[in-house]
Amino acid sequence: MKVTVVKDYNELSKYACNEIEKEIFHNHCSVLGLATGGTPLGTYREMAKGFQQRKLDYSRVTTINLDEYVGLEKENAGTYHTYMEKNLFQYVNVSSDMKFIPNGTAEDLQAECERYEKLIEKKGPPDLQILGIGTNGHIGFNEPGTSFLSQTHIVELTDSTRKANARFFTSEEQVPQKAITMGIKTILKSRKIILLASGIKKRNAVRTLLEGKPDEQFPASILSEHPNVMLVVDRAAFED
Ligand code: PGA
Repeated sequence: MKVTVVKDYNELSKYACNEIEKEIFHNHCSVLGLATGGTPLGTYREMAKGFQQRKLDYSRVTTINLDEYVGLEKENAGTYHTYMEKNLFQYVNVSSDMKFIPNGTAEDLQAECERYEKLIEKKGPPDLQILGIGTNGHIGFNEPGTSFLSQTHIVELTDSTRKANARFFTSEEQVPQKAITMGIKTILKSRKIILLASGIKKRNAVRTLLEGKPDEQFPASILSEHPNVMLVVDRAAFED
């Protein structure tokens, strides 16, 4: 795993944006794997700026998101559909039929997981996957204990994840109990992965990631087995 330490969140966001823009510049038909949560917000802000200032064209880019909550209508303020529209898609010209996010209100959730996995096989795998890391080591919504062989599946969110994500809702009770997430095996199919970690809250997770061997109790640890992973981390998340 290549490790790049940057000064702060601002630098991290610019760095990640630059990697994405380079990818698209070299391949106009790139497939991007996208993440949500607090960490990539700055990256998306930079991409929006880049679209205006550097005239990057996303019209042939495909985007595939990692996960979505179960049980919320797409238009709900807390969904990742809303997050992506609000923070990225309204600013760049990704074609509406080329952006993919799991459907958390599908009648048959198991069938939805299978559909999404097939879709990733057909449209993907991502040339570049952006990932965040949970304080408990989760990637996507793959919580500790998830099999490294997992494909897209339904998860029961842990209390720590629901607490961490309560800031995107009016209260913790509003955070859904379940989500659909790409599995760990699915994520590992990506050609290149950029894992972003920022802030003192992520310091322990980064330390465990860099010290540990693959262990299903710390899902991100499997990334050490992938041939092309770059950890981009700011000093607050890296230094002792
Ligand atoms: P965060 O979440 O970016 O909101 O810290 C990361 C994650 O849970 O994967």
